[in-house]
Amino acid sequence: MPFDPQTPYNDLPLLPPPGELETRAVLKKAIDANKALAELKGAGELIPDQSLLIQAIGLQEAKLSSEIENIVTTNDELYRAFADQGQHANPHTKEVLRYKDALWHGFKSLKEENRPLTTRLFEELFQIIKDTSAGMRRTPGTKLANPSGEVIYTPPEGEAVIRDKLANLERFIYDDSDLDPLIKLAIMHYQFEAIHPFTDGNGRTGRILNILYLIETGLLDIPVLYLSRHIIDHKGDYYAGLKRVTEDHAWEPWILYMLDAIAQTARATRERILGIRDLMREGIEQVKRELPKVYSKDLLELLFRQPYCKIRFLEEAGIAQRKTASQYLRELERIGMLTPVKMGREVYYLNIALLKLLIS
Ligand SMILES: Nc1ncnc2c1ncn2[C@@H]1O[C@H](COP(=O)(O)OP(=O)(O)OP(=O)(O)O)[C@@H](O)[C@H]1O
Ligand SMILES: [Mg+2]
Repeated sequence: MPFDPQTPYNDLPLLPPPGELETRAVLKKAIDANKALAELKGAGELIPDQSLLIQAIGLQEAKLSSEIENIVTTNDELYRAFADQGQHANPHTKEVLRYKDALWHGFKSLKEENRPLTTRLFEELFQIIKDTSAGMRRTPGTKLANPSGEVIYTPPEGEAVIRDKLANLERFIYDDSDLDPLIKLAIMHYQFEAIHPFTDGNGRTGRILNILYLIETGLLDIPVLYLSRHIIDHKGDYYAGLKRVTEDHAWEPWILYMLDAIAQTARATRERILGIRDLMREGIEQVKRELPKVYSKDLLELLFRQPYCKIRFLEEAGIAQRKTASQYLRELERIGMLTPVKMGREVYYLNIALLKLLIS
C-alpha cells in the first residue's frame, strides 16, 4: 500500500533498511564525521573539570532543543533559574530545565548504572521532559502537521505495534553488524521519530537518545555533542529528510544530512570548548596576578561552572563565609571579571565572557 500521511503508518519497515547503505558518498562523509568527533573527544579531555563543561553546554542544548518545540526562554532567565534550582522560573524555563534533567538522567543511567538503551529508558526520558507519569501512546489521534496545518505523517497506532517496533529498534542498536555507528545513529534517529512512541516530546527524547548513543558506543566520554543548533539552522532539510525516508526510502540523503550535522557540530563544539579552556586559563592568571589573596582553585572553578554566581554559592562550596564571600565577588567585579546584576533583592554576579562563549 502506498504511504498515506493520514493513515497510521503501521507498515513502517523494521530495521535494518534493505539495500546498500554505505555508498561511496556516505563512507566519505562518515570518515570525516568520525574524525571531527575524535577531535572533539580529545578537546573534552583537556578540560580539568569536565562536569563544568557538561553542565554549561548541556544547559545551552536544553534551551535550543526546547526552542525547536517553541518552548522559548532567554539565556538570562535560564541561567538564573539554573542558579536558583528552578525556583521562581516560568513554565517554559522549567520545561527547559527538565530537558536538562532528562539528559542527566540518561547519562547517569548509562555511565553509573550500566543500563542499556531500552524502551523503558526512552519512557523515563519522556516522563521527565513532560513531567508526566504517562507512558507510550495508547489512544489514536497523534498526527504530525506542518506549520500550515497540513498533516504530513501519522505514526503507527496500537501499543503492541509500537512496542514491537521499539524492540526491533533496540535490537538494531545492539546488533553486531559492522555498520559505522554514526550511520546507525542516523537510521536510529529516523526510526525513533517515525515510531513516535509518545503523544509529545518525541523530538526532544530522540535528540537525547542521539547523544546517549554516542556515549554508549564510546565515541564520546561526556555528553557534549548536541545537534539542536544545527537542526534549527537547517530545519527545512531536517523535516524534508525524514519525510523522504518515509515516502521514498531515501536513506542516502538522510544519512548524509545527519553525518554533516555531526561533523559540523563536532567542530563548532570543539572550538567552543577550547574557548572556554582559554578563558578559564586567562581568568586563573588574572586573579592570581591581581587578587592573590582571593585566588583559589575552587573559586575559579565555581566562576566557570555557570555564568551566574551568588554569595551563597561561595558559602556552600566552603570557599568563604558570607562577609568574605561578598568581598571576594566585589573584588572580582573591580578587576572586571564579574558584572553585578540586581534581580529583586538578590545580586547575581555575571561572568559575561563565559555567557557569550556559551551562546555563541
Ligand atoms: N515526517 C516526519 N516523520 C517522522 N518524524 C517527524 C517528521 N517530521 C517531524 N518529525 C519528528 O517529530 C518531532 C516532533 O514531535 P513531538 O512534537 O512529539 O516532539 P517535541 O520534542 O515535542 O517537538 P520538537 O521536536 O519540535 O521539539 C520532530 O522533532 C521530528 O523529529
Ligand atoms: Mg511537540
